[in-house]
Amino acid sequence: MSAVPVVVLVGPMGVGKSTVGQLLAERLGVGYRDTDEDIVAAEGRTIAEIFVDEGEPVFRAIEKRAVQRALAEHDGVLSLGGGSILDADTRALLAGHRVLYLSMDVEEAVKRTGLNAARPLLAVNPRKQWRELMEARRSLYEEVATAVVATDSRTPEEVTQVALDSLELKEA
Ligand code: S3P
Repeated sequence: MSAVPVVVLVGPMGVGKSTVGQLLAERLGVGYRDTDEDIVAAEGRTIAEIFVDEGEPVFRAIEKRAVQRALAEHDGVLSLGGGSILDADTRALLAGHRVLYLSMDVEEAVKRTGLNAARPLLAVNPRKQWRELMEARRSLYEEVATAVVATDSRTPEEVTQVALDSLELKEA
């Protein structure tokens, strides 16, 4: 099966890719898919468990394959795990796709993800870890994005509306 997603969502963990992605899919009348969910379903364990059991490099290899597969199979809205853009092949694969980068600032990030133990990369010192993470990743998100929507102080519904407008997507 060969398909092209209507839009691919990228951005840091906790920014609302799943919530906004599902709202976007509803408004566009298409399906929603999330590579984190694909990985959990295929592996039969949580992302945190994969990190703990096997370490980040193994997770990234699993993630890379999951992204390749989803990009080739899914014709609706697709959300990628926050770190998937660290891989150069994945970034190259995103060229030519409609890619929406959902962004947020550090205080918003700590508010949304700070105490969430399911997010292994922010478990110890959320504010510092967040800053370091974004310093390493911001330019990569920008590199793959064809549109950027800031989520700070916006509800998921507002973000969805701004996204539809800036991507010039027609509703179902
Ligand atoms: C990660 C983001 C998570 C998940 C994993 C690593 C990251 O996905 O893939 O915990 O490196 O930013 P979400 O962005 O969907 O939370």
